[in-house]
Amino acid sequence: MLPQPVLIIGTYNEDGTPNAMNAAWGGQWDYHEIMISMGNHATTHNLNRCGDFTVAFATEDTLVAADFVGIVSGRNVPDKTARASLKAVASKHVNAPVFPAFPMTLECRIKQKLDESETGYYIIAEIVNILCDEAFLAEDGKPDVEKMHLITFDPVHNGYITLGHRAGNAFHDGQALK
Ligand SMILES: Cc1cc2nc3c(=O)[nH]c(=O)nc-3n(C[C@H](O)[C@H](O)[C@H](O)COP(=O)(O)O)c2cc1C
Repeated sequence: MLPQPVLIIGTYNEDGTPNAMNAAWGGQWDYHEIMISMGNHATTHNLNRCGDFTVAFATEDTLVAADFVGIVSGRNVPDKTARASLKAVASKHVNAPVFPAFPMTLECRIKQKLDESETGYYIIAEIVNILCDEAFLAEDGKPDVEKMHLITFDPVHNGYITLGHRAGNAFHDGQALK
């Protein structure tokens, strides 16, 4: 499936330290809900204790930290977010850390777990709130994706590819052929 997002899932470890992991297998589920395919990770254990988490969108500027949290586990490196220089603050809406290095963050709560087994499960989660750094807002006050330089995951060559410029207007440009 292309393009795949580079999502950074933020949870708290049992001792209250923040953890983060990289997830590309995720997307929209319903209007206010997302889905993520979760393997068996430190994050999964954190989510089993508390269904709250954050989802940040990785960028060119945060690429190295985003990849690091995808190749190192909090099970072996409990201070992985500190090692990635990801400062954490507490979310005001859910019991999970927010990493301000990322321009935009969804504050989420698990609604349902599908196909739960020892190897993980599919998360269906409600988006409780959306945070966006003011520097990345458009003139209409909504998030401006073009300003963020978001990265996507390329599973063909294991690459990260930056999202480029706006190419057109959805629900509109096709009108030319009507
Ligand atoms: C590009 C990339 C995408 C990934 N996508 C997922 C994913 O969608 N689901 C998943 O369970 N793990 C995914 N992983 C693996 C986890 O991020 C990785 O196992 C991480 O170390 C787990 O961290 P934790 O044990 O601290 O929770 C991905 C890793 C990378 C580098």
